[in-house]
Amino acid sequence: VPPKAPRHFLTLEDVNRDELNHIIKRAIELKALQRQGIATEIFKDKVLAMIFEKSSTRTRVSFESAMAQAGGHAIFLSTKDSQLGRGEPIEDSARCIASMVDMVMIRTFAHATVERFAEYSRVPVINGLTDDHHPCQLLADIQTFVEQRGSLAGKTVAWVGDGNNMCQSYMQAAELCDFELRIATPKGFEPWDHMIEKHKDRVSLSQDPVAAVKNADLVVTDTWASMGQEDEKKQREKIFAGYQVNRELLSHANSDVLFMHCLPAYRGKEVSAEIMDHPNAIVWEEAENRLHAQKALMEFLFNQ
Ligand code: CP
Ligand code: NVA
Repeated sequence: VPPKAPRHFLTLEDVNRDELNHIIKRAIELKALQRQGIATEIFKDKVLAMIFEKSSTRTRVSFESAMAQAGGHAIFLSTKDSQLGRGEPIEDSARCIASMVDMVMIRTFAHATVERFAEYSRVPVINGLTDDHHPCQLLADIQTFVEQRGSLAGKTVAWVGDGNNMCQSYMQAAELCDFELRIATPKGFEPWDHMIEKHKDRVSLSQDPVAAVKNADLVVTDTWASMGQEDEKKQREKIFAGYQVNRELLSHANSDVLFMHCLPAYRGKEVSAEIMDHPNAIVWEEAENRLHAQKALMEFLFNQ
C-alpha cells in the first residue's frame, strides 16, 4: 500500500471554507484553554522542523512555543548554518529532514522553493512566508477579526500598500471568508495578474487609498520594503509616500474600523505612530494569535 500523501498548507487555499472555520474555532478554543492554564498535550512526542531562509520574530517564537506548550519539540534551522546554505538541493534536504520529523515549517524567498520542498516531503509542510503568500498570518488575522466582530462575511476590508505576499493571502481570504477586498497600491506594485483574474469577483484594485478605505470595517497594511527588497527601501519610501495609514486616512472608514498589521511595523512609514497606539489597532492581539491559530493548524494537519 503506498503511503498516504501528506496534507500541506502552502497557501490559504489549501483548506476549504469548512476546514478554515474549524481551524479558527479551534484556535479560539485553544487560546481559552491556555488562558485557563489548562495544558493540552496535542503534540506529545511530535517534532517540527522550522527552516528559515529569511529573518523572523513572530513566526519562529509562535511555532516553537506552540510545540513546546503542547508536549512537542521544534528544531530551528536557518539556511546560514545548515547545508541548505551550502548548495544542498532542496529536494535532497526535503527527503532527509522529512524522514526524521513529523512536520515542517519553511520560510523562503521564492514560493517555488516551498512547493519543491513539499513535493519531496513525506510529512506535512507549512508555508511560514514566501515572496508570494503568508497563509499562517491570515489564520491569525481571521481569528482576531472573528474574536472582535464575530465574522468577516459581508464585511469590507481595505488593503493599503504593496500588493505582494500579505495582500495576495488576503485575496484568497476574501474568497474563503466572503468579504469584499479593496486594494490600493501604487502603479506597478499590484498583485500578480493571475491572482487578480482569479479573485476579480471579490477584489477590486485602485491607486486611491481614500476610496479603498471608504466605509471599511478593517484596514490592513504592511511594510513598504519586504525582506529581500532592502536595496529598494529609499526608492519605495518615495513611491509609497501617499499610502500611509494615519488618522486622516482612517477618518474615511467606518467609525468602528479595526486596524491590523502583520508586523514588524515601521512607524512614520506605512503607519503613523498614533495609529499603532489607537484603541482600534488590534496588532498585538493579532500577533499573539499566531500562536493559537498555528496550534489549531498543526493539530488539523496531524489529524488528516
Ligand atoms: N508577521 C510575521 O510573520 O512576523 P515575523 O517576520 O517576525 O515572523
Ligand atoms: N511583506 C513582509 C511580511 C513580513 C512578515 C515581508 O515579506 O517581509
